[in-house]
Amino acid sequence: HLGLETEYIGRHIHFQETVDSTQKIAARLGYEGAPEGTVVVAEEQTAGRGRLNRQWYSPSGTGIWMSILLRPNIPVHQAPQLTLLAAVSVAQAIEEIGITVGIKWPNDILIGGKKAVGILTELQADPDRIHAVIVGIGINVNQQSYHFASEIENIATSLCIETGTHVNRATLMQRIFANMEKLYKEYLQNGFTVIKVLWESYAISIGKEIKARTMHETLIGTAIGITDDGVLILEEKNGSIHYIHSADIEI
Ligand code: BTN
Repeated sequence: HLGLETEYIGRHIHFQETVDSTQKIAARLGYEGAPEGTVVVAEEQTAGRGRLNRQWYSPSGTGIWMSILLRPNIPVHQAPQLTLLAAVSVAQAIEEIGITVGIKWPNDILIGGKKAVGILTELQADPDRIHAVIVGIGINVNQQSYHFASEIENIATSLCIETGTHVNRATLMQRIFANMEKLYKEYLQNGFTVIKVLWESYAISIGKEIKARTMHETLIGTAIGITDDGVLILEEKNGSIHYIHSADIEI
């Protein structure tokens, strides 16, 4: 195997050269009963998916495009906590290779204000039970520039652009699996408290004036924190409080 330090995350790896989306394959494996910790990873995605129905640009050979299947025994409303947990494990892995990162709620990882990582969490659940959580992680690793992708040039970056050196993708994946498994075990045993504190230590949106675009409205106010379920709390100038489950945040 890959020199893994984990018991289950990354122990079953499905690698494919080209896929439409690793989320789609992981979802199928989820329904087929694949074990917890199963990972789907591809060199290239032809229809990579982002949050809020966006596309995720996933060119060949430069990024980490992967989906991790978890089967936590938790109530459905707590699932967003796993998104934050995933963000912390990736943030830690990137800091371990010497790059300072920040997390923009819920789980964009930014370097110098530009996005290097996106995370998309999807659920297979009944109203009262989670069957699987599929954590999709996209990391821009060895892209050398975004000049050719003008729509994202000003908002995207890669680890290579930030460090000026090639970054080994396998090593980074190993670090992510190890961090995630450690945090996940802590989470299953003791709940969200420790993860929340870690997440807050990376958070760059909290305490700031933000603009939150939800499906229904655009709210402007101060991001005053997150709830114990990982929901963003926004306070408008007039003092009214909003709990935001899903939105695009501008700082
Ligand atoms: C976002 O920031 O909008 C989330 C992006 C998530 C991208 C990853 S790449 C691996 C997995 N497969 C997908 O189709 N999407 C996620």
